[in-house]
Amino acid sequence: MNWKSTLAPYAQVVEELKVKLKGIHKQFENESKHSPIEFITGRVKPVPSILEKAESKKIPLEDIEKEIQDIAGVRVVCQFVDDIYTVVEMIRARNDLTIVEEKDYVSKKKASGYRSYHLIIEYPVETIDGMKKLLAEIQIRTLAMNFWATNEHSLNYKYKGSIPANIKVRLQNAAEAAFQLDEEMSKIKHEVQEAQRIFHRK
Ligand code: GTP
Ligand code: MG
Repeated sequence: MNWKSTLAPYAQVVEELKVKLKGIHKQFENESKHSPIEFITGRVKPVPSILEKAESKKIPLEDIEKEIQDIAGVRVVCQFVDDIYTVVEMIRARNDLTIVEEKDYVSKKKASGYRSYHLIIEYPVETIDGMKKLLAEIQIRTLAMNFWATNEHSLNYKYKGSIPANIKVRLQNAAEAAFQLDEEMSKIKHEVQEAQRIFHRK
């Protein structure tokens, strides 16, 4: 397996998606409108993580590109829960990609407490060997959901996937607190946005 040549188009996908999503952010900013996008990150899955996932899911090497859907991953972080659905709608309306799967863990959280909206997309990328359609995962979540997921991910890494029961309970409580924070902020959303508009004009 030549990882360098396999992963190069995925890096291209991540860069293109980041540019396009940042373009949306910029357009809202130019029009002094509340941007549903706070910030964007992206990464290509490191080779050791690809191999680990392939092994745990019993995926043969030749099926990796078809079966591992998050080799290219982009994360869109929003201020408010509503913004997540605005971003999903904007992505659905695009003609430069195809959505192949949607998972709404925002309205229905995972058992861990994880919340996020996931889109698996098919994205055409031009390579020197012609056009290639690659899969990519877009995760859309609020700042509060991102804070929780980042910390939970670190703990999962530290405990190799078996977080002790007492810490799990704390994580569940933290997930509930993050949910409440999102709820409260949604209620004063218009106040916050008005303040940000005024601040922006100055
Ligand atoms: P994967 O084998 O991880 O792709 O799981 P899946 O195919 O069932 O997809 P799912 O939508 O559940 O998860 C995809 C990605 O979402 C993961 O690779 C993580 O980045 C993220 N994710 C899902 N569940 C959790 C969770 O409980 N905690 C954290 N921190 N991230 C999660
Ligand atoms: Mg997956």
